[in-house]
Amino acid sequence: LPSLPLDLRGRPLRDLRLSVIEACNFRCPYCMPADRVPDDYGFDSAERLSFDEIEVLVRGFVRAGVRKLRLTGGEPLLRKRLPDLVRRLAAIQGLEDIALTTNGSLLAAQARALREAGLGRITVSLDALDPQRFREMSGGRGDIADVLAGIDAAQAAGFESIKINCVVERGINEDQVLPLVERFRDSGHIVRFIEYMDVGTCNGWVRERVVPSRELRDRIAARWPLRPLEAQYRGEVASRYAFADGQGEIGFVSSVSEPFCGDCHRARVSADGKVYTCLFAADGHDLRAALGEGEAALGDRVAAIWARRGDRYSEVRGAASAPRKHVEMYLIGG
Ligand code: GTP
Ligand code: 5AD
Ligand code: SF4
Ligand code: SF4
Repeated sequence: LPSLPLDLRGRPLRDLRLSVIEACNFRCPYCMPADRVPDDYGFDSAERLSFDEIEVLVRGFVRAGVRKLRLTGGEPLLRKRLPDLVRRLAAIQGLEDIALTTNGSLLAAQARALREAGLGRITVSLDALDPQRFREMSGGRGDIADVLAGIDAAQAAGFESIKINCVVERGINEDQVLPLVERFRDSGHIVRFIEYMDVGTCNGWVRERVVPSRELRDRIAARWPLRPLEAQYRGEVASRYAFADGQGEIGFVSSVSEPFCGDCHRARVSADGKVYTCLFAADGHDLRAALGEGEAALGDRVAAIWARRGDRYSEVRGAASAPRKHVEMYLIGG
């Protein structure tokens, strides 16, 4: 086996976030605004990695150090026969954790099959509780009843500590924060509030729309006192808090106000087989050629790419020299 690579800042490769499909049935304005991304947007299916290729790819990443895998999209549940893929990936030696990030709209019908296939954890995006507001946040495509049914089905299928991710935008959905906390804090699910980020090139991001986590935390704590929790592992993305009355936990992902690049150990792969060493990378590195040579070659190629990585975009955001071109979020799943 090759020795495990460290990047130029001494960071190992630990997590792989793999997009299984670039298409989405939602058009969240912060990710895939409907006026910028056509309804029928998507690769030809021949451009997407096959399940055989994905299995080799994940095995190669495990050789390069990966222990955690998260399946993303677009909307990953649009990928046909996803449970079959999960079953194959769950059998890979050395992979300790397989999670999924979904918008939840198609989850009710698939939760049980995913669980039976060996999926470990689920994160559902949910930006509002009010049905009308939810619909707007999904670009006019989503029905909150489907998402809530998906969360319930996931729980019934045996998923524990389901995470619920809410991207907060100033003046758009910040009034949904307290209702979301109230609704879920005693449910066993973990709500996390995510600062609105300047991902991609088409969401019209402006800093004024970012609600710093500190502000949200204070607002929540004024109603339900909070107590900070220790990180569960080095480089944990969310900072976590428990309610002082013991009823649940929440988290904040603060990549704008408190960047966490210092310990970033995540690589992302798009559905067409390019690896991106940062959420804000301009371009990816094509892995198809190495993939054709098998998992050892893929592992070597990934290790070589990782060894040249110096990314820390969130720490330099705002600097005149910070790159402006970013891969679209829906290609690499967040
Ligand atoms: P687990 O710890 O495995 O449960 O997952 P996580 O905490 O990494 O959470 P998740 O994958 O749900 O990430 C939440 C959100 O944080 C993502 O949708 C992104 O918007 C953001 N995020 C995750 N990783 C990074 C990162 O490396 N950089 C930045 N800037 N944002 C990230
Ligand atoms: N800012 C923050 N998070 C975003 N996501 C997508 N676009 C953005 C953005 N502009 C994240 C959300 C969503 C996941 C799929 O991607 O967390 O739940
Ligand atoms: Fe689709 Fe998720 Fe992007 Fe919303 S954030 S448009 S659900 S990929
Ligand atoms: Fe990692 Fe890039 Fe996010 Fe920093 S901005 S934490 S380097 S993905």
